[in-house]
Amino acid sequence: MDLKYSLVKDIPGKKSVIYLIRKDNNLSRFAFTRAELKYIKEQIKDGEKQVSINSYNKWSYIQVIEKETDPDKQREKCRRAGSEHSLLLKQHKHSEIVLADAIGEPDMLLAFAEGLVLSNYNFLRYFGDKSEKKHPLESILIVSDKLDKHEIDVLKALNEAVYFVRDMVNEPLSFMNAVQFSETVKQLGILSGFSVEVFNKKKIESLKMGGLLAVNRGSVDPPTFTVMEWMPDNAVNKKPLVLVGKGVVFDTGGLSLKPTQNSMDYMKSDMSGAAAVAGVMYAVAKLKIPIKVVGLLPATDNRPDGNAVVPGDVITMYNGMSVEVLNTDAEGRLILADALSYAGKYKPELIIDIATLTGSAALAIGRFGIVGMGNAESRYMKSLVFSGNHVHERIVEFPFWEEFDKLLESDIADLKNIAERDAGAITAGKFLERFTGYPLIHLDIAGPAFLKKANSYQGKGATAIGVRLLFDFIRNFPNLFEKDS
Ligand code: BES
Ligand code: ZN
Ligand code: ZN
Repeated sequence: MDLKYSLVKDIPGKKSVIYLIRKDNNLSRFAFTRAELKYIKEQIKDGEKQVSINSYNKWSYIQVIEKETDPDKQREKCRRAGSEHSLLLKQHKHSEIVLADAIGEPDMLLAFAEGLVLSNYNFLRYFGDKSEKKHPLESILIVSDKLDKHEIDVLKALNEAVYFVRDMVNEPLSFMNAVQFSETVKQLGILSGFSVEVFNKKKIESLKMGGLLAVNRGSVDPPTFTVMEWMPDNAVNKKPLVLVGKGVVFDTGGLSLKPTQNSMDYMKSDMSGAAAVAGVMYAVAKLKIPIKVVGLLPATDNRPDGNAVVPGDVITMYNGMSVEVLNTDAEGRLILADALSYAGKYKPELIIDIATLTGSAALAIGRFGIVGMGNAESRYMKSLVFSGNHVHERIVEFPFWEEFDKLLESDIADLKNIAERDAGAITAGKFLERFTGYPLIHLDIAGPAFLKKANSYQGKGATAIGVRLLFDFIRNFPNLFEKDS
C-alpha cells in the first residue's frame, strides 16, 4: 500500500469531496449551487444520511453524522461511515478524495479517514488478475486548520501497521512458517527503525526453551524466537514495556488433533498476537514514540508427527518448571510461558501478552471484544480499557482470583497445561502468570482476530486487532511508567 495523505487548509476546486456534516449545518459556505443545496436539504429532511451529487467532472458526497453524547461512540460512527464510503469510492473509481469537515471536530475526520482506509484493505497476493479487485484510491487530502501534521503521520503509520499485520495473518502456512515470519518482522524493523534479533532452533535449544521446543517437535519446520527492541535515547520510561505475542503459525492441535468440524480451517491465524506486536513496534518506531518497548515473539506450527509431544509428557520450561502436557492443543500457553520468563531479563515495568489463546474467550464474548485479565496494578488495566474504548478494540476484564490457581495442579509435575472446561480463558491466563514475577496483563483475542464474515472496516479475514489498542495505550499513557531521571 502506498497511500498518500496530505493536510490542506482549503478545499481544492474540481476535486471530489466527502463532507462530514450535522443535520442542521449550513452548507452555503461550500461551493454548491442553489439547486444542489436545495436537493441536499430535501434529502436530509427525508432522513437520508448520505447524499451523492455528480456534477460533470466531480462527485460531492455529503455524510450526516448523528450526534452522540459519548465521544467513543461518535468516533466509531465516523469509522463506520468511512467504511461505507470505501465502497462508493471504489464504485466510482476515485484515485483521489478530499475529506472536509463542516462540523468543526477534526477528530471525527481522522476517524472517518481511518474507517475508509482500513476498509480499502484486501489480500490479493494469490489472485492472477488483481487490477479489478484492487482499490483505486491513491491519495487522501484532509482539509483542516485544526489538525497538525503529526496527527496525519499517526494515521498513516497506524494504517500501514494494520495492513502489514493483516497481510502476515492472511498468509497461509505454505508461505508464512516460523522462519518466514521472523524474516517478515526483520523487514518491518528495517522499514521503521526498531532492532530485530532472531534466535534459531540451535539457540532456542541452548536456552532450553522447553515449551517452544515441545510444541515444535511435531513440525518439519524449525521454531524461531524473535526479539524486537525500541530503546530510544529520549525515552521517558526507565524500565521497558514488554509485549509478548503468540506466534503459532498453524495450530492443528498436535496429537490432540482439533476435534470439531471446521475448527482447523483458519488456524493460520493463530499467530495474530505475534503479528499484532510486530505491527505495534512498527508504528511506535516509525513515529519515534519516546517509550522503551520490547517485543518477544515465540513462533512455530503445532502438528502431529511421530516425534510430536504426546499427552502425558512432562517437559521442562525455560524457567526450570516442569509441565505435564495433558492436551497438545493447549500449545499457545507453552510457547508464551517461555517468552514471559525470558522477559524477566529486561526487568520490565509491565508485560502485556496478546494471543489467540482459547476458544473459551471466543465463546464468552464472540468477535466483539478482547478478553483481558491480569495481576498488574489496576491503573494499567484502567488505561488499557480506556484505550480500547477510544479505538473501539474493547476489553472486557475477567477475574483473576487465586482460587483458579488450584485447577492447574498436576499429579506428577509443577503444573499441568489444562484445567477443567469451566473458566478456560482464565485458567489459561493463570498458567501464564506462573511464568513471570513481573506485573502481567493478558489479552485473549481468539474471538476478534480473524472474521469469517466481513464487519465494516475490520473487513473479512485478519483484523489486526490489538495494533490500534496497544499503540494508543503506549502513546497516550507515558505517565503510567516510572520516569527515567
Ligand atoms: N488456537 C487455539 C484457540 C482458538 C480457538 C483460537 C478458536 C481462535 C479460535 C488454542 O491453541 C486452543 O486450541 N485452545 C484450546 C485449549 C484447550 C485444549 C484447553 C481451546 O480453547 O479449545
Ligand atoms: Zn491449540
Ligand atoms: Zn493455538
